[in-house]
Amino acid sequence: MDTVYLNGAYVPAAEAKVSALDRGFIFGDGVYEVIPAYGGKLFRLDDHLQRLENSMQGIRLQNPHSRDEWSSMLNTLVEKHGDGDQSIYLQVTRGVAKRDHVFPEDSQPTVFAMCNPLTPPSREYLEQGIKAITLDDVRWKHCHIKAITLLPNILMRQQAAEAGAQEAILINSDGVVTEGAASNVFIVKDGLLMTPPVEISLLPGITRVLVLELAAEHGIPFAEATFGLADLQSADEIWVSSSTKEVLPVTALDGKPVGDGKPGQHWHVMIEHYQRYKASLRNGG
Ligand code: PDD
Repeated sequence: MDTVYLNGAYVPAAEAKVSALDRGFIFGDGVYEVIPAYGGKLFRLDDHLQRLENSMQGIRLQNPHSRDEWSSMLNTLVEKHGDGDQSIYLQVTRGVAKRDHVFPEDSQPTVFAMCNPLTPPSREYLEQGIKAITLDDVRWKHCHIKAITLLPNILMRQQAAEAGAQEAILINSDGVVTEGAASNVFIVKDGLLMTPPVEISLLPGITRVLVLELAAEHGIPFAEATFGLADLQSADEIWVSSSTKEVLPVTALDGKPVGDGKPGQHWHVMIEHYQRYKASLRNGG
């Protein structure tokens, strides 16, 4: 049976039980990470653990583990799942306490992690791109925190799905594009790759940073810049990135083609660099 990690023990998933009084369950009071492992090797683990630390600081939750402890726990979990590509979901909540909005004084954080096979994006998405719709970003102002409280994201993704789209691209009350409901957003216009800066309220995606690094390394002009709906609509290419989607081309926005309606030339270049980077990680590079 599938093994998960819960509060210090590796147990079969069906035996991993958390109290109904856990503040994660009662309030959504917790944070999470999604970390890919390619060929058994955790992808940018330090960056993920730093973001986890930042998220915990953001909700004033004491980090229950050192970097080494996190690393050893996650590597052990991955090892138990063989060396195929995996996606680790890691969640830390404020723990079990009598229901009260104010923080409990003595609760122990609940730490849970599970591993699932990481399937690459489908051939259809890679060959034809995905569809996206634009929606008002109705979330709070602290989207840099990777909070488990994902109700707005879920509702927006559901709205996208019901419109026959795979992602919702969000626009805040200043008319600025922030990110996708579960991804970061890039546009290409006249050869310039752009993504919103992390200064606005969005998740500092680990994949986003890798895309920017690959752009710098391979001489692709890029800028971290704010842009709005009109820029999105007139973009030559739109991409979304995440740990599980990698980098996907968006070829239809609100029912209209993006560029010529096919995955763009810049995306083809980027995804090749991305796949090469993944392969080098698998080979220990
Ligand atoms: N989500 N923005 C949001 C709102 C996200 O939920 C995600 C990823 C990203 C991309 O971050 P990264 O490149 O570090 O995966 C941006 C994960 C995959 C999820 O919730 O399943």
